[in-house]
Amino acid sequence: RSRSLEEIFEARIARDEKIEPKDWMPEKYRQTHIRQMSQHAHSEIIGMLPEGNWITRAPSLRRKAALLAKVQDEAGHGLYLYSACETLGISRDELYEQLHSGKAKYSSIFNYPTITWADIGAIGWLVDGAAIINQVPLCNTSFGPYARAMVRVCKEESFHQRQGYEIMLTLCRGTEEQKAMAQDALNRWWWPSLMMLGPTDAESIHTEQSMKWKLKRKSNDELRQQFIDQTVPQADILGLTIPDPDLKWNEETGHYDFGEIDWDEFWQVVKGHGPCNKERLGARVDAWNNGKWVRDAAMAYAEKNEKRKVA
Ligand code: 3HC
Repeated sequence: RSRSLEEIFEARIARDEKIEPKDWMPEKYRQTHIRQMSQHAHSEIIGMLPEGNWITRAPSLRRKAALLAKVQDEAGHGLYLYSACETLGISRDELYEQLHSGKAKYSSIFNYPTITWADIGAIGWLVDGAAIINQVPLCNTSFGPYARAMVRVCKEESFHQRQGYEIMLTLCRGTEEQKAMAQDALNRWWWPSLMMLGPTDAESIHTEQSMKWKLKRKSNDELRQQFIDQTVPQADILGLTIPDPDLKWNEETGHYDFGEIDWDEFWQVVKGHGPCNKERLGARVDAWNNGKWVRDAAMAYAEKNEKRKVA
């Protein structure tokens, strides 16, 4: 009996083979990758906005240059991921339309404001820290273009995390006001960073199937626990207090126990009612509209060039 296309596909996944764009794949496998990879790409692009706010306000040329490099990296991550998405049969224009119309999701974490310079340190330290924990397993995801994009992304993320932590270290070794700024930023970014890794495994609708397809290699709760275990000692070195009175080392499990996450806040932000959702989407739509003349000029120039070649 010849094996069905599904059986051949499942056997390939079981052998940890990379699925490439032109290979046969179940329609749902294609759809869930377009879903996750497009949200990932949108997150990178929207993620430029909170930090972009501080490029002109950075306290030194060195900080400005590092932040500029990080924001440019995020743009590049977004473009890699949009390109990887296009290999699954969705156009760049469709992806942009989904974002600009408010239909598409992007990471909840970018809907919070960056109020002081310390937020830039907290974002690099916590948000990029959580991103690395989430993205390292994705280097082994079964879809070839996504896995390969992640290898490059992860290398650049570690620079992002280190420059953020250095900002926090500098502030914590500075004046009382500077240390207070760092503590205030940690207070505001800690819980949203835990939520960034997604709902609990019990609430996660995609985890089971995504694990079967080796898209997701570790569950949301596993990654969240890994992030907490890694980050608490870093806060200790900074001399900062994590804003969770229930946070406690558990000798038996070898992990930190932590307090209840406010999932109502999470779903409110995901549904578009976070502190900055409207501002972030408005900024993207404005940038898209204000850049139309550049796209039109580039197309006109390309067509003229084509004609010249033909003529
Ligand atoms: N923000 C917004 N929506 C979220 C979310 C978050 N933090 N976490 C989960 N969701 C959504 C999911 O998209 C899904 O909704 P959908 O069906 O409409 O797509 C729903 O909540 C249920 O969640 P699941 O856990 O079932 O969904 P996933 O299996 O997709 O897991 C995820 C969520 C862990 C974020 C996974 O999608 C993932 O690993 N994505 C790739 C990494 C990524 O997107 N990171 C975002 C940050 S970008 C970044 O890190 C940039 C860096 O430079 C700072």
